[in-house]
Amino acid sequence: MDAFLRGLPKAELHLHIEGTLEPELAFELAERNGVRLRFATVEELRAAYDFSDLQSFLDLYYEGASVLRTERDFYELTLAYLRRVAADGVRRAEIFFDPQTHTQRGVAFTTVLDGLSRALDDGEAELGISCGLILCFLRDLPAEAALATLEEALPHADRLLGVGLDSAEVGNPPERFAAVFERARAAGLRAVAHAGEEGPPDYIRQALDLLGVERIDHGVRATDDPELLARLVRERVPLTVCPLSNVRLKVFDRLEDHNLPQLLAAGAAVSINSDDPAYFGGYVGENYVATQRALGLSAHDMVRIARSSLEATFTSAAQRQALLAELDAYVAAHDG
Ligand code: ADE
Ligand code: ZN
Repeated sequence: MDAFLRGLPKAELHLHIEGTLEPELAFELAERNGVRLRFATVEELRAAYDFSDLQSFLDLYYEGASVLRTERDFYELTLAYLRRVAADGVRRAEIFFDPQTHTQRGVAFTTVLDGLSRALDDGEAELGISCGLILCFLRDLPAEAALATLEEALPHADRLLGVGLDSAEVGNPPERFAAVFERARAAGLRAVAHAGEEGPPDYIRQALDLLGVERIDHGVRATDDPELLARLVRERVPLTVCPLSNVRLKVFDRLEDHNLPQLLAAGAAVSINSDDPAYFGGYVGENYVATQRALGLSAHDMVRIARSSLEATFTSAAQRQALLAELDAYVAAHDG
């Protein structure tokens, strides 16, 4: 089963590139860039990955990101991620990045974007993984800052798939970003948002109705609101679920307690993703393997999850059909 799951052609739709910074690379970049980390060794840094909630993680995640300074840093980070997940059957990656985390420190927006895009081009050529970028706004900063970031990004919109919303959720409702998302969508960008990770189901509703998002990142709190869950199923809104992340950030106590089976039983379009794999103990392959095992999901369930990931991609209809055909061929070759 494990090898079958790793080989399943899949899309990763919920992955923060800054969350792929492994401690070893963090120390290498800190040294190269003359940045001081609070930790003396890789082991000491890894030992700090014991989170009590989203905020306790974000504090360390933003500190880690401070070692990323040059175009080459963003390039190396991204290419390392793509090389890693090529072995996990990832055929399409729609990657989040947080420009405000970097521009606030004086790193130019184009330094970040140039490094990421060059890695995606080289990764596509080397590994055959189709890639795209989603610019996320930090919701704990003012909407004006998000709008300024969007204005800076729009001249480069041809290198972006869409926009998203992340960082500290509770107390930072989607409604504050309605005008920003309206402007982004008017410019032809697709829209997604983190909602219902720690925040209430109403944030999911706001993301749909006020931001016009096409996918919900996490969305696990939807099971607290049967009417909302029924709507997500009826409107086939994809939920990009991140099981290992949810356990590490205490959204669920144990993987065995995750509500993914409930979401599947309701008919929701769930995919499995890694969120911030360097911090949460596994890339997308490990998320598939550990989740299947902990929840006793069937091969049929897992194929359905991989299919949902491909169906939810922001690609051309032709490319989506080709990816789905690849999945069908893989399943047919492994049947019986
Ligand atoms: N940024 C990186 N990972 C995140 C998560 N799981 N939730 C919100 N913001 C994030
Ligand atoms: Zn996330």
